[in-house]
Amino acid sequence: MKTVGCIGCGNMGGGVLRGLLQNGGYVLLGHDHSREKVEALRHGAQSVEWADSPLDLARRSDLLILGVKPHQMPAMLEIIRPALGPEKTVISLAAAFSLEKIREGIGRACPCVRVMPSLPVMAGRGVFALCFDDPSLSSEARRELADMFQSMGRAVVLPEQQFSAFSSLVGCGPAFVFLFMEGLLNAAVTMGFKASAAKELIAAMVEGSACLALQEKESFADLRVRVCSPAGTTICGVNHLQRCAMPGNVADAVLESLRRDLEMSGRQS
Ligand SMILES: NC(=O)c1ccc[n+]([C@@H]2O[C@H](COP(=O)([O-])OP(=O)(O)OC[C@H]3O[C@@H](n4cnc5c(N)ncnc54)[C@H](OP(=O)(O)O)[C@@H]3O)[C@@H](O)[C@H]2O)c1
Repeated sequence: MKTVGCIGCGNMGGGVLRGLLQNGGYVLLGHDHSREKVEALRHGAQSVEWADSPLDLARRSDLLILGVKPHQMPAMLEIIRPALGPEKTVISLAAAFSLEKIREGIGRACPCVRVMPSLPVMAGRGVFALCFDDPSLSSEARRELADMFQSMGRAVVLPEQQFSAFSSLVGCGPAFVFLFMEGLLNAAVTMGFKASAAKELIAAMVEGSACLALQEKESFADLRVRVCSPAGTTICGVNHLQRCAMPGNVADAVLESLRRDLEMSGRQS
């Protein structure tokens, strides 16, 4: 059984470890500034074993996930470098931190992969982009990693040049969706619902709408038309959102995030 270790067990690293715990099939190790974060990762009788230091974890792992912030990556790569060799694989979750920078940071000691996660990984529903551009990555490793991330939600393989776009859409996207949900919650409370009850109703409605969109071949626009009966109530609300230029504003929000991602990638590479 392979050992997967993760340094930085916060939202993303912790979410990936939790997903792997639930699926089984790996020995799991974790290291974080906070030991409690690692000890909280349990599923039935299974748990994530604590590693005393990043170097200890790197020595004991076959697949080594880096879940620290992008600005912490250069120092971390230097720390783990002595433990790396061609039999291991480094998997970085860091946004706007290039594959070349990772490979340079570890002196090209082992194959490297970039993975772009998203917050729903914490609920076992992550959408991941995987970058397999490192030529030293074997086809067997590519298959294994694609299966590993697919088992935690959905995974697509993308060239690194598309990572900024994916990150702005799918990595930042949950924040835009939550903002939309906040607006619905304000309306619900204004109409007399308790916030806690309304939160559940809204989340279930968004989940149901997303499931329907995944299930049906129709476009988003066609699905929307299905809710808008002639002379009905929904079309009045839709007209209001169209007058506020909501679709264009949402598109602009994603492009603003893309602008910032490209700015950060440029600064760090
Ligand atoms: N959040 C997202 O939606 C999202 C989306 C796409 C990509 N990402 C990427 O995912 C990575 C992790 O983000 P996150 O949201 O999971 O961050 P996070 O919740 O802050 O988790 C990072 C964890 O790493 C720990 N850490 C940092 N340096 C460490 C060290 N030297 N030794 C041990 N532990 C260390 C941090 O501890 P302290 O807090 O004590 O420093 C923290 O617990 C980032 O690189 C980010 O770019 C995030």
